[in-house]
Amino acid sequence: MLIYNSSKGYGAIPQAIHWLTVILVAVAWSLGLFGDDLPKGTLRDAGLFVHISAGLAVIILLIIRLAWNFFNPPPFAGSTTLGIWLVRLGQAAHYLLYALLFAVPVAGIVLQFARGESIPIFGLSEIASPWVKDRAFSGNVEEVHEVLAHTLMIVAGFHAAAALIHHWILRDQTLARMLPRFGE
Ligand code: HEM
Ligand code: HEM
Repeated sequence: MLIYNSSKGYGAIPQAIHWLTVILVAVAWSLGLFGDDLPKGTLRDAGLFVHISAGLAVIILLIIRLAWNFFNPPPFAGSTTLGIWLVRLGQAAHYLLYALLFAVPVAGIVLQFARGESIPIFGLSEIASPWVKDRAFSGNVEEVHEVLAHTLMIVAGFHAAAALIHHWILRDQTLARMLPRFGE
């Protein structure tokens, strides 16, 4: 399988980034929603640590992905039986997903700082909050972080449904382009 994107589909690295991002977003979202149900103490702290680490990894993968797209553009989404405006809608959804993959973790970083808490960098170091704890501000930012996170999941849900419609109903190569092609 090719490392780089080709006219046949996404390369191994862009695919790995895509599917790893899917897993990390699912982990971060689940821990964001249900982390509070973990018993108070070590377990809950560990949940927040994994939540933050997954969110930071999402931003790092996003930066690598955007740099990769610049030097090695994704394959043109032309192999569809649908009109050009639907192809454009799919592309617009990708841009919206990029924006949300950035905005959700950034809002999370602001939230952690607004609580006066430091941000652990994968257990290797920590960035101390530049602010003192502000309850009202952190409450508002938590709301923003949550709404953005749910919006990301809704857009990703439509995006995944579109990929499955392409595969099972339109029977084109859209999903196959994002799946490993062995023996190439
Ligand atoms: C793709 C990445 C992320 C997703 C999908 C996500 C999602 C969520 C969700 C759904 C919640 C629950 C909100 C609520 O019920 O009020 C939450 C809470 C939270 N998130 Fe994130 N988040 C992400 C990244 C981050 C990052 C990078 C940080 C910090 C550096 C962060 C910090 C927090 C904090 C401090 C909470 C509150 C936790 C609590 O009090 O229990 N998040 N997140
Ligand atoms: C959190 C969930 C997801 C996010 C954030 C996400 C994000 C993205 C983004 C930004 C792209 C543009 C190409 C790239 O930069 O990699 C993309 C492409 C793609 N995604 Fe997802 N995705 C998610 C889940 C899924 C799921 C569950 C499926 C399959 C059921 C899927 C199938 C595809 C396909 C087939 C493409 C290529 C479409 C094309 O360009 O022709 N994605 N995704």
